[in-house]
Amino acid sequence: MTAYDTEVLIVGSGPAGGAAALFLSTYGIDTIVLNRYRWTANTPRSHITNQRTIELMRDMGIEAEVTGKGTAHELMGETAFCTSLAGEEIGRIRTWGTHPRRLADYTEASPTLPCDLPQTLFEPILINTAASRGAQVRFGTEYLSLEQDEDGVTAQVRDRLTGSTYSIRARYLIGADGGRSKVAQDIALPMTGSMDIEGSMNIVFEADLSKYVAHRPSVLYWVLQPGAQIGGIGAGLVRMVRPWNEWLIVWGYDISKPAPEVDEAMATEIVHNLVGDDTIDVKLTSTSVWSVNHMYAEQASRGRVFCMGDAIHRHPPSNGLGSNTSIQDAYNLAWKLAHVIRGQAGAALLATYDDERVPIAQQIVERSNKSRTQFGQIFRALGMTPDAPPGRTIASRKDDTPEGAAQREELRKAIELKDYEFNAHGVELGQRYRSDAVLPDGTPEPSYDRDPELFYHPTTWPGARIPHCWLNSDGATVSTLDVVGKGRFVLLTGIGGESWSKAVRVVSEELGLPLDAYVIGPGGDLDDLYGDWSRVSEIPDSGCLLVRPDAHVAWRSPTVPDDPAATLHQVLTTVLSR
Ligand code: FDA
Repeated sequence: MTAYDTEVLIVGSGPAGGAAALFLSTYGIDTIVLNRYRWTANTPRSHITNQRTIELMRDMGIEAEVTGKGTAHELMGETAFCTSLAGEEIGRIRTWGTHPRRLADYTEASPTLPCDLPQTLFEPILINTAASRGAQVRFGTEYLSLEQDEDGVTAQVRDRLTGSTYSIRARYLIGADGGRSKVAQDIALPMTGSMDIEGSMNIVFEADLSKYVAHRPSVLYWVLQPGAQIGGIGAGLVRMVRPWNEWLIVWGYDISKPAPEVDEAMATEIVHNLVGDDTIDVKLTSTSVWSVNHMYAEQASRGRVFCMGDAIHRHPPSNGLGSNTSIQDAYNLAWKLAHVIRGQAGAALLATYDDERVPIAQQIVERSNKSRTQFGQIFRALGMTPDAPPGRTIASRKDDTPEGAAQREELRKAIELKDYEFNAHGVELGQRYRSDAVLPDGTPEPSYDRDPELFYHPTTWPGARIPHCWLNSDGATVSTLDVVGKGRFVLLTGIGGESWSKAVRVVSEELGLPLDAYVIGPGGDLDDLYGDWSRVSEIPDSGCLLVRPDAHVAWRSPTVPDDPAATLHQVLTTVLSR
């Protein structure tokens, strides 16, 4: 590697860059990570850590650290709509899969449950683990520019301590430098949408609010007050950072006017208004002004430079998809880069990153912005919008009149609509890829028997994430997701499919590729004692599933062909663009 300072230069150590460094270092790939600041995020920002992200941390062996530092799932769910924390409660929705009905969906779909982990705690876990596995991290180092040629990328960077500039030569560069990405700009990624469409502010503070929230534990308390519809993310928000004495308020401002100077007096007044109690002691930690965006990249890479995270999807925090999607972008690219760098795949495999992640970028930008606007129905139901029926107020919902009954029904439906923000399990877990790194088996895409955004629909249709179910191994219970991953391809088969296992050994040798096979069934490598695998696998016992390192199905076969090794060889050569 004499001509290169590193294999992959990563600009940014936020959720996307930190995760890219973690995945690549775990796969044994050399990286240098830059952050222009002295350390990781200094304000909490994203929190919701969804099941898919925790599955990735499980694959990296650090699930316990992530969930141990996060606020537990059972404290995430009693999301309230109120006039203030001390004021009248208007409605409640159980969020993040905590409703008993939804809890069944969530626990059936994954070996993990969501947790709530502030970015201030998550980023150090990602970057510390990456560094302990070999990533070189350079804080106080700013990316300035790049040039790429056929063999690599040369970036100019500045050491902010000494002011000196120097160059770093890498095979590939990842732009994980956030919503104002200079890397995305330098490679002229085409973007769709608009930036700065609404104005918002964050106020982070310490105050013991237990008496207002401990009986209805949640991470989100929505405040419906006059002014709460202006700018921001749909309504005023009191957001738990740590239960129940660290908080973050999100409050909007009119973007057509200059951004407010959020001084101590203004911040304290907003906190007191939203809490509804001006006697509480408030210790301000920080304030910041930010804007809501609706923008995604139509292309995520150019040549040897790949962008991920907010650099390619810029959207409000609604649905809690920001850091989750950023980390999942990194997981998609990392195994591909590792295979190409090790010579186990052709460079064309890297083009599938765009094919697979750009549609997700678009999906989440549109979903989160739609969720932001869907608070409108609640305000209407409470008589707080110009188009509400005359005479309607917050109090009129208590009236024993036909209008009162209609108002109650409208409010119930308006709150139920927020399921699309707070229980969008299909958006969180149901990503299906279409690209040259997936080989269709000729079957049509399975249709959704429930709403595709609200509900995850398990399938082994090529491109989908392998469904989770519990299997048995020497007395232990393991998830299908524990069997796959770890940076390598895995083939799953059943009784009668033993010739696939032999084929895997042959092809692994032929292609110089780590490849494992498991026979699932009585007497096999793993047993299906609950019978769940035979319900979800969608293949007969002697068929097989070929699963990529990111747990998405690359290919499947219902039968054993005459020469399984030749078939598998051809499939892997195609999937890996060799
Ligand atoms: P992120 O912006 O986190 O990281 C970018 C990294 O690049 C940083 O390390 C930065 O220092 C570095 N960098 C940038 N330019 C550089 C350069 N030239 N040289 C070197 N390093 C450079 N989301 C959510 O889901 N819920 C929420 O409540 C919020 N709230 C929120 C508040 C505020 C104020 C912000 C700014 C953002 C949020 N978000 C959020 C969004 C969420 O934080 C976001 O989706 C993720 O942080 C995206 O992760 P990335 O790693 O892509 O970018």
